[in-house]
Amino acid sequence: MKLHFNPASPFVRMVRVTAHEVGVQDQLELVPTGVLLPVEAHDAVVSDSPLGKIPTLVTDHGSVLYDSRVICEYLAHHGGDKVLFPDEPVSRFRALTIQALAQGLADAAVSYRYETTIRPAERQWDKWAARQLERINAGLDDLENTWIDDLEAMSIGTISAAVVPSYLDFRMPDFDWRSTRPKLSGFYDAFRQRPSMKTTELDNPV
Ligand code: BEZ
Repeated sequence: MKLHFNPASPFVRMVRVTAHEVGVQDQLELVPTGVLLPVEAHDAVVSDSPLGKIPTLVTDHGSVLYDSRVICEYLAHHGGDKVLFPDEPVSRFRALTIQALAQGLADAAVSYRYETTIRPAERQWDKWAARQLERINAGLDDLENTWIDDLEAMSIGTISAAVVPSYLDFRMPDFDWRSTRPKLSGFYDAFRQRPSMKTTELDNPV
């Protein structure tokens, strides 16, 4: 399987952590994008996906899968995993909702980064950045106040939620998300010790 990837992308990281957790990480051929700009098509990614977004997975059968949610579910299926996407309906839809919340948080964080660092200074829109920050704070509060007990069990929601603080620490190091969210902070510190998180650390961004 070929995965178009950039180690800094939180969406890619969700996929890579999932691959490790279900034991198929060695089957992934990682194809680095190098620098990836939101305003320029990346030839190699576009040749496989019309949206030209990462992660994009090309399976061994030649099927192209995106986005990260679809790829994570495919990898769990491919690895024969029965834990990450529970069958029992309440657990399943709670896990999927946490996953969606984490995806939204990652979207807001990447959008904040693009607005504040990539968009030319004279075109930056403060209200846009402020709204992304508001979203990030509200989403993190919801993880702390509504979902923290669910994060005790392994699921696709747990993996996705753990990737978000890591991206915030990496790209927004001055943003103190921890002090008002001690439970989320404790969850993240424990989860990041897992081999799946350690081997996908964001220490080599391109
Ligand atoms: C980043 O460098 O922050 C990034 C790279 C790819 C996708 C999303 C974010």
